[in-house]
Amino acid sequence: MLLSLNKISINFGGVAALTNVSLDAPAGKITGIMGPNGAGKTTLINIITGMLAAQTGTVHFNGRDVTTLEPHEIAAMGCARTFQNIRLLNETSVRDNIVVGCYRHGQAGLMAQLFGLPSAVKEFKGQESQVDELLERFDMTQYADLPAGELSYGHQRRVEMMRALASVPSLLLLDEPVAGMNDVEALELGRIFKDLVNDGLGIILVEHNLRFMQALSDYVYALDVGQQIAQGSPADVLNDPAVITAYLGE
Ligand SMILES: Nc1ncnc2c1ncn2[C@@H]1O[C@H](COP(=O)(O)OP(=O)(O)OP(=O)(O)O)[C@@H](O)[C@H]1O
Ligand SMILES: [Mg+2]
Repeated sequence: MLLSLNKISINFGGVAALTNVSLDAPAGKITGIMGPNGAGKTTLINIITGMLAAQTGTVHFNGRDVTTLEPHEIAAMGCARTFQNIRLLNETSVRDNIVVGCYRHGQAGLMAQLFGLPSAVKEFKGQESQVDELLERFDMTQYADLPAGELSYGHQRRVEMMRALASVPSLLLLDEPVAGMNDVEALELGRIFKDLVNDGLGIILVEHNLRFMQALSDYVYALDVGQQIAQGSPADVLNDPAVITAYLGE
């Protein structure tokens, strides 16, 4: 199994953000995580990537116990993510934003990398084909030399995804990748995600757009206030009474 969580729990000052959450995410598949606001979805991604430490439970990635590893160590093993809120270098070209991602440094290292950007870009010369491939895959070649801050919201999200993929991860964690996009944009992205998993990538998809989640996920886990309330095929989970009740409360 590419990623396995076993009985993960974490509290924030008395708030049980996650309680005994277990899940598996295989390579070559899209594993969906759904749940209303505050369910614990982003917290789960933060634990997988080492940005938060679980109070109980274990995380195994690529056959290794990574529960206590630092974010840069987990990133270096091939785990990449995007954030719920866009984090790009607005003044920097799309191409160089992607180049930054070629280094498996995780978030802390990313900030250091940003300050050393000119040298990072120079050091990178010679590997442009990898970036070109990503630009083509995301249909963004024509925007490569524009400052990222000038792009539309949907295109900025694509840059984030390309940056995450530039490190050639085996697992990609997407935190609400199509939030704020229209159906056409979401559909196009969905097709790209399917292509990526067909090439062997494992994807964890946290998503509020349930139609998108259902269309894309191979298997879904549902959370509500930190508790795991259902798992199974997208259709089964969306029809689960506990899931329907959780969403009615929204
Ligand atoms: N750093 C933190 N300190 C204190 N409480 C936190 C922290 N991070 C998350 N929480 C709380 O933990 C719970 C889960 O939050 P989380 O952000 O994981 O939810 P989510 O499922 O991603 O929600 P959303 O759909 O709104 O993004 C919430 O009650 C939230 O207020
Ligand atoms: Mg969230």
